[in-house]
Amino acid sequence: MAKTFDVGIGSLVSDGVRAPAAQQASGREAAAVALLPLPLRGAPGAAPPGDGSVPAGKSFFLETFGCQMNDHDSEKVAGVLQGRGYHAVESPALADLVLYNTCSIREKAAQKVFARLGDWKTLADGKIIGVLGCLAQQEGEEIFERAPWVSLVCGSASYRKLPDLIAQLESGGRRVTGLDLDTDQTFETEITRRDNMLRAYITIIEGCDYACSYCVVPHTRGPERSRASDAVLSEARRLADAGYTEIQLLGQTVNSYRDPSPRQWKFVDLLRGVAAVPGIRRVRFTTSHPNDFHRSIVEAIDEVPELCDHVHLPVQSGSTRVLRDMLRTYTREEYLEKIVWIRAARRPISITSDVIVGFPGETEADFAETLSLLDAAQYDAIFSFKYSPRPNTSAMHMPDAIPEEEKSRRLAVLNEHQRAIQIAANQRRIGQCYEVLVDGRHPQRTQWGGRTTCNRLINFTSPRGNLLGEYVQVKITRAGPNSFAGEHVT
Ligand code: 5AD
Ligand code: SF4
Repeated sequence: MAKTFDVGIGSLVSDGVRAPAAQQASGREAAAVALLPLPLRGAPGAAPPGDGSVPAGKSFFLETFGCQMNDHDSEKVAGVLQGRGYHAVESPALADLVLYNTCSIREKAAQKVFARLGDWKTLADGKIIGVLGCLAQQEGEEIFERAPWVSLVCGSASYRKLPDLIAQLESGGRRVTGLDLDTDQTFETEITRRDNMLRAYITIIEGCDYACSYCVVPHTRGPERSRASDAVLSEARRLADAGYTEIQLLGQTVNSYRDPSPRQWKFVDLLRGVAAVPGIRRVRFTTSHPNDFHRSIVEAIDEVPELCDHVHLPVQSGSTRVLRDMLRTYTREEYLEKIVWIRAARRPISITSDVIVGFPGETEADFAETLSLLDAAQYDAIFSFKYSPRPNTSAMHMPDAIPEEEKSRRLAVLNEHQRAIQIAANQRRIGQCYEVLVDGRHPQRTQWGGRTTCNRLINFTSPRGNLLGEYVQVKITRAGPNSFAGEHVT
């Protein structure tokens, strides 16, 4: 019998902390298995010049916390700064402008940012320190109280104002804020610094119009705004011309997309449109809301080979009663019906999910329903979280809070349950061949890493060199719960 092993990315189901979503999908996990990350795509200002000299002018350092949306926002913020003559440096100590693009989805994420800000208490002199993103929006001017050395606080719904805000700081302004949420505009930039050489992100919808009772996002990112389909398609064409073959469409509820232009495309039309751009071989999308997940999306994946066979469809809980308290707008049965559609597709589609344990009032019976939903859904992977009460959410003051130890226990049980599902499913894949886009290499250069269209991570050996960026066939020889090992089929 093949020995079970794990090639190293166990955090998916093991620690209750969401691996940054970009890791999930961008191949950065490769670093965790000792694969070298890809070089940057030669973006101006993305790194110091290779000759060791320091470019003249103003410098910035930008650290990003949280999800893929934040990662991509940071690429655009970096583009804005480069447009204003700034260049990126690799250490905050060397930067004139230090920015943190923050996350506040769970308390731990917020604490991490405040710890970072604390580092500057005695060192900030002469630098501009700024807080961007969700924590900026959530805490607003309070941040100036807690960290008086901060001079810029700007939420993502106000990024269009960033050039102005930075101009104010450059001309001596001491404290500037961008905290409006009542916007119907999206963040468009002329320059975007692309940090992943193979996969390019395109935000198609910003904000969220749902009101899940545990979630800060509607408060921190504002109302839902979709970009015009023409703007999305032109960006996809530009990316294909620049050599990208894989595009990931982003949105907090990506499939709620509604084209504001007269063409009035729905999400599925946009999916087909982007997949038809010459040169694009893979189109991914995340995150889908079950309520807006229609059969037409499965049909499109079945018909269009460029659409990746992976759907991230967060369920959050397997109990209809808890789902109602979470204001998720669907029942367990309605959710599972969508899983049946996906499973009935002609090509196998991988499904992943987010699950929260310990929501207020979650009983043992509710939790048991979440476990049984895992059995029914047979997810490829889950991101699992302990419920974390957040400011400005309706669940914040709900009665019957679950004690912390009990949340931890449920999380461990959940992860163990899912791990067994993944081990069994992955063992069945041994011997199968998959197309892999190679996005990392082992220092010894004999082992490579990449993703299948289902977004499965495979590390493999090859007699060939220089595989980065290539699509190759790999046969799976061993399987762990979260990744695979294989051989290049030449
Ligand atoms: N507590 C725990 N997990 C949360 N998530 C969102 N808000 C909270 C919270 N307050 C999880 C959800 C969501 C993912 C991005 O983060 O599962 O899908
Ligand atoms: Fe948060 Fe719910 Fe909106 Fe997702 S759909 S971002 S969980 S409010």
